[in-house]
Amino acid sequence: MNWDDETTDETEPRLVGGAADGEDQAVEAALRPKSLAEFVGQERVREQLDLVLKAALARGATADHVLLSGAPGLGKTTLSMIIAAEMNAPIRISSGPAIQHAGDLAAILSSLQEGEVLFLDEIHRMSRPAEEMLYMAMEDFRVDVIVGKGPGATAIPLELPPFTLVGATTRAGLLPPPLRDRFGFTAHMEFYEPVELERVIHRSAQLLDLDIEAEGAAEIAGRSRGTPRIANRLLRRVRDYAQVKADGLITREVAAAALGVYEVDSRGLDRLDRAVLQALLKLFGGGPVGLSTLAVAVGEERETVEEVAEPFLVREGLLARTPRGRVATPAAWAHLGLVPPQQGASGQQGLFGA
Ligand SMILES: Nc1ncnc2c1ncn2[C@@H]1O[C@H](COP(=O)(O)OP(=O)(O)O)[C@@H](O)[C@H]1O
Ligand SMILES: [Mg+2]
Repeated sequence: MNWDDETTDETEPRLVGGAADGEDQAVEAALRPKSLAEFVGQERVREQLDLVLKAALARGATADHVLLSGAPGLGKTTLSMIIAAEMNAPIRISSGPAIQHAGDLAAILSSLQEGEVLFLDEIHRMSRPAEEMLYMAMEDFRVDVIVGKGPGATAIPLELPPFTLVGATTRAGLLPPPLRDRFGFTAHMEFYEPVELERVIHRSAQLLDLDIEAEGAAEIAGRSRGTPRIANRLLRRVRDYAQVKADGLITREVAAAALGVYEVDSRGLDRLDRAVLQALLKLFGGGPVGLSTLAVAVGEERETVEEVAEPFLVREGLLARTPRGRVATPAAWAHLGLVPPQQGASGQQGLFGA
């Protein structure tokens, strides 16, 4: 019963996502900015991080531990690599789900070099014993390795070289406070403005050697859900279309036509998002309707509707989660070109009716 939980993960959307195929992953890696200067947008985070890193460099010290929080695709992994690059340090990459036993973490920590950056993705999904070992490692650069079992078990303290932990999470709220407090610097990544996404798209187009007009980039940016990863994916789909149907040049018309083929509409809604809205409006008069009922109506799992479609629809102001169920906003009716039923009778429109 978490209709008031606005922090649900926006798991990878479909076209726009699904499991990235091999080519997509290779291209994604190639498009990653390599320095803070190349990193588009997130001005405040960039400025703060720049100070943290420059000061550490000037002191000849290892940078403080950094926590990056934000939705998928906003640049957390990219920033972790940039932190290592700016510090001229090697980077080790692992993730919370990969560390199920304290021993897994001890093995990683004990093999770190001095000054190395340890990137732990999805740090909120680490096991509790590993988490507790991490507290001590972050604070004192020391871990207790337990040798043996039962009454004969002994803790052997192990000194670690100073290192910088960079943790990434889509759910900062799920981190236990003792862990959160041990980060010297926390950066919250916001969704990107359309103009920032246009810059991401122009940069990527240049790296991929594509011809794109400013209006073509703007068209793609407007459908990218504030997310650079999606902007880059849509750009590649538009590139395919432009190569096959339009001599390669990406104009506004080409971008719009291409994204139409992939069912990404003018606001970035895809097939599932629209199916959810359509069911809500046409079958349930705009709601309120329960999540399970809505999921059955679109033939999807409850979790898929809740975690994949809804966060974006809520953020776009098209759908609201209320104690009585899901409700469409006036903007939803307008976006699908439908007219809301007259107010009155059931009073269900009362929530937003003005
Ligand atoms: N600020 C940015 N400027 C340019 N490209 C970006 C930026 N942030 C993310 N990207 C691109 O988006 C993609 C996803 O970024 P990533 O760091 O993997 O996101 P996250 O780890 O937050 O899910 C990468 O290919 C990267 O090139
Ligand atoms: Mg990542």
